[in-house]
Amino acid sequence: MSGHNVWTHKGTFLLAAVGSAVGLGNLWRFPYLTGENGGGAFILIYALTIFAVGIPILIAETMLGRTSRQSPIMGMRHLTKTHKTSRAWESIGWLGAASAFLILSFYSVIAGWALHYTWLMLTGSLVGADAATISAGFDALLASPGLMTLYHTLFIAFSALIVGMGIHKGIESGLRIMMPALFVILIVVLIYGVINGDVRAAASFLFTFNIADLSLEGWLQAMGQSFFTLSLGMGAIMAYGAYMSSEASLTRTAIAVAFVDTAVAMVAGLAIFSLVFGAGLETGQGPGLMFVTLPLAFADMPFGALVGGVFFILVLGAAISSSISLIEPVAAFLVERFDMTRPQAVTIMVVAAWAMGLLTVVSFNIWAEGTLFHALFGRSAFEFIELLTNIFMPLGGLMIALFAGWALTQNEVMKELGTNITWFKTWRFLVRFVGPAAVSFVFLRTIPQVEGYVVPTLGALLIVGIFALSQRLRKSA
Ligand code: PHE
Repeated sequence: MSGHNVWTHKGTFLLAAVGSAVGLGNLWRFPYLTGENGGGAFILIYALTIFAVGIPILIAETMLGRTSRQSPIMGMRHLTKTHKTSRAWESIGWLGAASAFLILSFYSVIAGWALHYTWLMLTGSLVGADAATISAGFDALLASPGLMTLYHTLFIAFSALIVGMGIHKGIESGLRIMMPALFVILIVVLIYGVINGDVRAAASFLFTFNIADLSLEGWLQAMGQSFFTLSLGMGAIMAYGAYMSSEASLTRTAIAVAFVDTAVAMVAGLAIFSLVFGAGLETGQGPGLMFVTLPLAFADMPFGALVGGVFFILVLGAAISSSISLIEPVAAFLVERFDMTRPQAVTIMVVAAWAMGLLTVVSFNIWAEGTLFHALFGRSAFEFIELLTNIFMPLGGLMIALFAGWALTQNEVMKELGTNITWFKTWRFLVRFVGPAAVSFVFLRTIPQVEGYVVPTLGALLIVGIFALSQRLRKSA
């Protein structure tokens, strides 16, 4: 446990996990994916995955962090030893580090756009502007690798500064200031949206569904999004869990995190679509929803520049509280494994992710088409990196579920969870069967583009069954 300390308060983990969970995923990605995928059907899959799969895995991942009290990679290594199970499980830590690195690389670029729009809004540059002007403005930003790199650099450097200052002085203090402010702003924006927009249209768009509306890739996106929004399956929660007080309840905390995160996505969705429908605009704009459609809605509304500016500050704050949780797991590993100082470790992680981020920057301009990525995968580097994270995070979550449910010594797990036997059994059933089956189902259904439900369902059950059997045999051997 050398060098590993614990959050100052019993409740700080909750604050930190909510800070990690609430971010661009809720404010930028959730609304635009919902808009692109036809509303309610997308939300249904997303919400089902959060509650049936996300919460149990959130509990498992937090538990892995808290029992090992180390960074994800070293923590997994430690657990495979103490629980006498295969060293191969350590790959959960490595896969997580890879995901953290990939996500941070594009996250910082997108957050950089929010920096640009905070400035544009607060200076009133977009007041009264028409659709053509606003969309030309966004195109101009995307066309400028220099400007995007500048914002990307500012954002990632600021996040690095916070993590570099340590978990107490940096992360905890930062979150304590940012998080309450973010909730206040969110409520203000919702009220503004209800007054100036069309909240009924927004609600019916979000909450009526027809499952047939969801495209095949929509399934993968909905599942990927539910892992992304909970910061799940990639070590961020494990790293924060390592600092969690032993007295806090794992189950209650995880449920609270998922509820707050989902609520924020819904409130943000309601506010954003109220404004979008109120202004008579389209929902299917894609990644530009927040940067073109929304500013356009603000452009003609009373105090639009001010509220719009405050909204983008919200986006920035939420993004920072998430990006620090992307840096922490890798930085903590470097400190533990190589005895580096924290600033050194943070610098290495951030410089590498920054460089990788340049791939996202150029995906919108000089490498927008005709690259190796397009030839091989039919998409830009940015879209490819996003696709990878949509696969890596559920995969990491799947492995965490199997590890916690099958490989660990179960009476130790029960002690750590500290619940009664019924809850423990419910949780274990979810991580042993439901989570793995659901994730495999979506993988089998979407990745090879298999049509129909029968093959994927059978395939998923088969995989889980074989796995369960093999663990049983190994345990009894
Ligand atoms: N959950 C964050 C969001 O919704 C993104 C994130 C993913 C942060 C993984 C940390 C780890 O914006």
